[in-house]
Amino acid sequence: MAIFFDESKKIFKLDTSSTTYAFAVHEGGYMFHLYYGAYLPDNNLLPLLYRGGFCSFHPNYPQYINNEISPDITPSEYSCYGTGDFRLSALQIKNADGNISTDIRYVSHRILKDKPALTGLPSLRSDTGDSETLEVTARDNATGAVVKLYYTVYLNLPVMTRSVIVENTSENAMDLERVFSTCLELPTMDYDMVHLYGQWFKERTVTERPLAHGIQTVASKRGSSSHNHNPFVALKQHGTTEENGSVYGINLIYSGNFSIDIEVDGRNTTRLIAGINPTDFTWHLEPGESFVSPEAVMVYTDKGIGEMSRIFHRTYMKHLIKSPWRDIERPVLINSWEAAYFDFDDDKLVEFAHEAAKMGVDMLVMDDGWFGVRNLDNCSLGDWYVNEKKLKGGLGKLIERVNAEGLKFGIWYEPEMISPDSDLYRAHPDWCLHVPGRDNSPARLQYVLDMSREDVRDNIFNQMYEVLANNKIDYVKWDFNRNLTEVGSALLPANRQKEIMHRFVLGTYDLMNRFVTAFPNILFENCSGGGGRFDAGMLYYSPQIWCSDNTDPIERLTIQFGTSMCYPVSTFGAHVSANSRASIQTRANVAMCGTFGYELDPRKLTDEEKALVREQIKDYRKYSKFVREGDLYRLIAPTDDPFRCAWQFVSPDKKETMVTSVIMRRPETAFYVLRLRGLDPNTLYKDSDTGEVYSGALLMNAGINLTDKVYNDGDSIVKYFTAE
Ligand code: GLA
Repeated sequence: MAIFFDESKKIFKLDTSSTTYAFAVHEGGYMFHLYYGAYLPDNNLLPLLYRGGFCSFHPNYPQYINNEISPDITPSEYSCYGTGDFRLSALQIKNADGNISTDIRYVSHRILKDKPALTGLPSLRSDTGDSETLEVTARDNATGAVVKLYYTVYLNLPVMTRSVIVENTSENAMDLERVFSTCLELPTMDYDMVHLYGQWFKERTVTERPLAHGIQTVASKRGSSSHNHNPFVALKQHGTTEENGSVYGINLIYSGNFSIDIEVDGRNTTRLIAGINPTDFTWHLEPGESFVSPEAVMVYTDKGIGEMSRIFHRTYMKHLIKSPWRDIERPVLINSWEAAYFDFDDDKLVEFAHEAAKMGVDMLVMDDGWFGVRNLDNCSLGDWYVNEKKLKGGLGKLIERVNAEGLKFGIWYEPEMISPDSDLYRAHPDWCLHVPGRDNSPARLQYVLDMSREDVRDNIFNQMYEVLANNKIDYVKWDFNRNLTEVGSALLPANRQKEIMHRFVLGTYDLMNRFVTAFPNILFENCSGGGGRFDAGMLYYSPQIWCSDNTDPIERLTIQFGTSMCYPVSTFGAHVSANSRASIQTRANVAMCGTFGYELDPRKLTDEEKALVREQIKDYRKYSKFVREGDLYRLIAPTDDPFRCAWQFVSPDKKETMVTSVIMRRPETAFYVLRLRGLDPNTLYKDSDTGEVYSGALLMNAGINLTDKVYNDGDSIVKYFTAE
């Protein structure tokens, strides 16, 4: 059994194979957090609660005058605003009188064998019997809000999820001002906060800093998870490395405004809350209505940050990504964007296909510029009908010609956007997000459609359905090239305008869901000006996401390493482009750490390069199973070493391994020994290049000698070993 309730002590204990999470219900129904970390066999956990005496400035719980429990210092299971807990609040409800003090108390609980799906939101799935879910029902007596806390633990993975549903069971309306998905308490502050920051072209760089007293936050207010911060934080105990030490990883399955806030108080204790960003958020609940929070995924391991990543990867591959493409070798594609930008017609695309086919490419993707009258980024978003001036004879004819070259066909869309210069905008100027009396701020010369509106979603669905259902399309790239401003909706009343940021995300999820349901075999790739929406919410609908518009392999190392903190490598859209000083082989070696493809004009390659591409595609077919199924070991991070970067995949049975190393800058010495990880020390592994045989013990402890093999700027090497 994974979830225990000790009736006598009123303690919930949620165990995975190697972790324990525990909290207690105290007299009066208060819920206090006890522990999260490595597995504990004990059930005498209440002594963990005591945090010392307190003074008159710490309020008492009404039931506990003059004893040692105060909401100001006690670890809360789900902290509420305004009733004595002055630290970060997970929940704040404004009742019909305008008061915002909130206080939930335990009422009952159920232990469920299946994991319920979240209505309207992506969430982890479970197969029968591999998880258990605890549903705790609590109540805020003053407002009549019923708050259900959900916890799922997986039996074979040290991972758990949390989410919250708030129901208005009163006769009055109320407003939810803060509804975080999880609240985590740690008794110390000896942690480094690891997170991913960036901007367009520089997404998800790993950074870390020691926790300090006060509040530290990573957040987005852009309407999407964003290039700038990712909804992921790890707290690693000081001294924790890739391979050793204690670490908590928290990731939200959410693609909109989020906030992960961490507060360290005067007793040096730490509280983390993660969920929808309360800035620009209020959710109005009429009697009988309910609100569902996004899901938070929490991982704990004492085997270092590398193991934390592998746990996230396994979890997302097994329980999040649902596309049938998850387990299948992805097509090697050639994308028209960096090859031609807007400057293409049917003949040019067929020429691309013709050249690409000779090198073994599987699919041609026609990127932006095929619809309306779009020859630049200044018009036509929303007019999803083919530009027959460019594609003479129409889309069907073009696809026939591409198929005749032996390639499948993919297409680009940006469904959530509208150009002011479009037929759609001229017909429906109120369909974009806008605030009456205020000018809309264009970004990339476009506005954002009001995805909270069903009529808008229906229109876009019908337009796209027409194209996808009537043409042989095997792949869709779903783009999103700006953030949300002037966030107003023509249909919602004044007291619901602060719901739009979240309703926008729900609308996008609804539209994506309609497409993946209608076209289960289409391979969807998400994108947002590169990796501006690389998050677990999007992975639920598309098994791969374009990692970054930056296709330079040296710069990609930092981006791909950061992305691997919690997202599986098989989800990284990665292409070989012409925009780099590095050799085409290094470009391919880095793109092979992801879904592989090309983004260049194949007609311009030299014969020598074409021959190399042919070999690269063969290698990709050989190695792509590592990317989908293997365990990733980050051997040398590009942010830790100024010269070299290296990573390794190990097959689940430890019988094969693939190692890649890239020289970012010529090192001070050509002498280079690289220690591998994750192998069986007693197995003998054969180097496929040299035929030399080494034990796993040697490869991990002494390392492979790469001296003189990779030394100059931009050099790279791939090594492949198989068990004898
Ligand atoms: C975004 C994407 C690119 C390309 C362009 C097209 O920037 O990241 O890959 O699709 O849009 O406009």
